[in-house]
Amino acid sequence: MAEEEEKTQSSNVEFKFQFYPMPDTKIPPFTEHFRFPEGLARCEPGGFVLTEEFGRHAHELVNFKPRKDDVWVVTFPKCGTTWTQEMVWMLLNDCNAELAKTTPLTIRAPFLESSRVDGAENAPPGLADLMPSLDVIDKMASPRVIKSHLPFYLLPPNLLDTCKVVYVARNPKDVMVSYYHHHKLMKMPSYSGDFETFVNYFMNDHLEFLPYFPHILDAWAKRTHPNLLFLFYEDMKKNLRGQVEKVAQFLDKSPSEAKMALLLEHLKFDNLSKNDSVNFKTAKDLGYMNDDGTFIRKGKTGDWKNHLSPELNRRVEAWIEANLAKSDLRFVMELEQQD
Ligand code: A3P
Repeated sequence: MAEEEEKTQSSNVEFKFQFYPMPDTKIPPFTEHFRFPEGLARCEPGGFVLTEEFGRHAHELVNFKPRKDDVWVVTFPKCGTTWTQEMVWMLLNDCNAELAKTTPLTIRAPFLESSRVDGAENAPPGLADLMPSLDVIDKMASPRVIKSHLPFYLLPPNLLDTCKVVYVARNPKDVMVSYYHHHKLMKMPSYSGDFETFVNYFMNDHLEFLPYFPHILDAWAKRTHPNLLFLFYEDMKKNLRGQVEKVAQFLDKSPSEAKMALLLEHLKFDNLSKNDSVNFKTAKDLGYMNDDGTFIRKGKTGDWKNHLSPELNRRVEAWIEANLAKSDLRFVMELEQQD
């Protein structure tokens, strides 16, 4: 099929969703806790939460055209996206650590919806470069690695039948902790409340990219699709080599033993957290983050134990149990051994 014809065809996906402003995110106490200039908006059907600005452009994303040699890394935020993106990019690029260290990850493996969230249009030049437009991503050379936090129903409907997708999940308690620190770190939204209040917002689906369970359960239901590889953060913590081998096989790559050793060293927490092309140093230098903290923060399984009181833990456990009642998905909440 001629390329032009293919393009026209793929830009006609009917968009059946509507984003509605969430009134309580425009008034206190929400506005005292978070700095989201427009508040948040909810997509119906589905209940997915992002911004009104995103809602105005969401139809462009379902119409984005995947290529058969793309690899997409799709996750709920804080599940190990960055770690996995770097792994996938390295595997597709002959483990070229030099190029990886000199070119920001967001340029090498762009975040699909980043240019369509609040504030992107007013971002300073250096930061805007880290949020490539859909047009720029559309024109990138193959093979592309593309990151998205969108649930499958807001991504191109032909995605899984067109290209490979690596989906990463992480236990909800550690995700809550990681997302809490993320919300405190980023200038937008500069969360100023306490952890328990944040968890309430999380369980009530009042944060960007929520709800958590439908996102993960939908991917879990698709896990036997030959183009989907479903990974857990906890497995990467337990045995990184085993998971890298699994991803390499999925991508039809067979790195030499020397390249594999280099890749494992490159992906180690201590190294990745100091790697400025991955740890969003440019965003920090441009003043996009608050002074305390770093994007690649602690990298542990079970940090929730340092954050959840026994009472809050009971409430979170009940919430997890209710949401997994109809599923065979189970999470590892702690590990006996991790590096
Ligand atoms: P913590 O906040 O618990 O430290 P995402 O990339 O999806 O935003 O996920 C971020 C989480 O992945 C952070 O978790 C971060 O520290 C962790 N992470 C990033 N690189 C890692 C690595 N090499 N090893 C372990 N965890 C890593």
